Amino acid sequence: MSIKLDKQIILEELKLISSLASLEELRIKYLGKKGLLSLEMKSLSSLSIDEKKTKGQELNTFKSFFEKEIQNKRSEIETSSINEKLRKENIDATLPPRNFETGRLHPISQTTYKIIEIFGNMGFSVKSGPDIETDFNNFTALNIPDHHPAREMQDTFYLDKKVLRTHTSPVQVRTMLETKPPIRIIVPGRTYRSDSDSTHTPMFHQVEGLLIDEKSTMSHLKGCLIDFLKEFFEISDLKYRFRPSYFPFTEPSAEMDIAYTKTNNILKFGEGDKWMEILGCGMVNPIVLENCKIDSKKFQGFAFGMGIERLSMLKYGITDIRSFYESDFRWIQHYGFNPLDLNSTSGL
Ligand code: DAH
Repeated sequence: MSIKLDKQIILEELKLISSLASLEELRIKYLGKKGLLSLEMKSLSSLSIDEKKTKGQELNTFKSFFEKEIQNKRSEIETSSINEKLRKENIDATLPPRNFETGRLHPISQTTYKIIEIFGNMGFSVKSGPDIETDFNNFTALNIPDHHPAREMQDTFYLDKKVLRTHTSPVQVRTMLETKPPIRIIVPGRTYRSDSDSTHTPMFHQVEGLLIDEKSTMSHLKGCLIDFLKEFFEISDLKYRFRPSYFPFTEPSAEMDIAYTKTNNILKFGEGDKWMEILGCGMVNPIVLENCKIDSKKFQGFAFGMGIERLSMLKYGITDIRSFYESDFRWIQHYGFNPLDLNSTSGL
């Protein structure tokens, strides 16, 4: 056997190979048309029969040895390239677990969930409506006709033929137009007015309430709101008062105040001789019922509306309304709520 067909040499050559391409080169070097082994095979024809037999056998053994080694090397390269790929795609499961305590519920969300929870227990369901409203739903149907001074009370953002709703009251209109009484809904949502200072932001939140049936009265309205505020502020002997007021969409109308004291800049609710306005309310004006295709001789009911930021500021001691919308991480860490705390999200 010529030195060129030495098994040891083959094994050494194979050791140096790490890619399928160079393995193929090696295969061709031996088994290609002009390969070393092929040439040896061809040269057999010039030998005597006996020599042919022995040499032929030798070459065949060598050939199977070579093919087997090539095959082994091929599997070795393929396995290591798969392993390399898996290694690269591997996920490091040893990373420390994510801190679920990091996320915070914004106080507006928290307050909204609390409101939903309390009114939900009284049988109110949640409705919503679009931020962009028609003039009819936002004003006209609510008995705020063109040039009525009430339109100036609310510095409206006008869009082409539509408005950014200045209150959640248009959802009263939508609901009455599409549902037959009895109706018992609350509507938390975004509202917009062209206004900005430490107690006003151009976008803020309100929750509207509407109850329509055949017999509900002002005393039902009062009972409902008193129960709500006592539970919201968690003060069972909350001191409050109702003051006569005016809203075009309710008749009679009232505003509700709660008592407070302020000592050393600390507000205390539920007692004292100062009054803080909390919400507007009243019996739904029959004109509004008729505008919404509800028979005002048969049906009556009450409505109310309040600012969610204001309720939230009072409950959690937040002093500047603008801080709600500054997206300050430290602020949300301080005033936000743990979303996994069932007590804080039970209204979800
Ligand atoms: N829409 C009024 C506002 O934005 C709030 C309000 C007052 C709503 C009395 C009512 C209501 O439903 O009855 O100031």
